[in-house]
Amino acid sequence: MLLLQFTDTHLLGTPGVEVRGVETDVTLVRCLAHARQRHPAPRALLLTGDLVQDDRDGYARVRQQFAGAGVPVHCLPGNHDSPADLRAALAGPPFVHDLSNRYDGWLVVMLDSTVAGANHGHLAAAELARLDQALTQNADAYALVCLHHHPVPHGSPWLDALMLDNSAELFAVLARHPPVRGLLWGHVHQALDGIRGRLRLMGTPSTCMQFEPDAEEFNVDSRPPAYRWLELGDDGSLKTGIEWVAEDD
Ligand SMILES: [Fe+2]
Repeated sequence: MLLLQFTDTHLLGTPGVEVRGVETDVTLVRCLAHARQRHPAPRALLLTGDLVQDDRDGYARVRQQFAGAGVPVHCLPGNHDSPADLRAALAGPPFVHDLSNRYDGWLVVMLDSTVAGANHGHLAAAELARLDQALTQNADAYALVCLHHHPVPHGSPWLDALMLDNSAELFAVLARHPPVRGLLWGHVHQALDGIRGRLRLMGTPSTCMQFEPDAEEFNVDSRPPAYRWLELGDDGSLKTGIEWVAEDD
């Protein structure tokens, strides 16, 4: 089963306005066109937060871009989103806001790690309890768990100050459920691919501009827009890769 992740689209209500030097709707269109060519038959899409850039009018533009996806579009919020506005503006198919989503032998979990008025992340006790319950009820399925904020440091002090602040609690829940195979996030505007026991750790670059990795201070990187593909196997295998979408691609 193929899934595609598009993260940190940072759309605005007004087209043509730049976010840190990038027209975010233009780069998203490029990523979507690339995906249609190279990965034409996904089972679902994952939008892992910062769908808009602090602009609720941006959700109408998110709707325009994804309404014709033809497959479920799973959404979770990031620190630049308003969770209530996101759900209201993207109500109804193909948009899905459920925490727990079953696809044959796989469970796809979408967590809300946002903290109102803050840029770092936190998983509320109730959200962790819902995760635990979903994994318990689907113990016969492998699981991919998605959230916005990074649960492991990326190596940039300014960015790691904005990570999930209770990762230990998340990892404690995941450790109780052996079929969890992958943990996937956005927020970082750069790539991370790691392994923690049986868990694949995956941080995904943005569909707009990237942040310079291993940087003491914030800096925009020159890497192009990107998205991630994930191939989830019936045997619990998880293959994944990042597509960097250069201008001439
Ligand atoms: Fe973010």
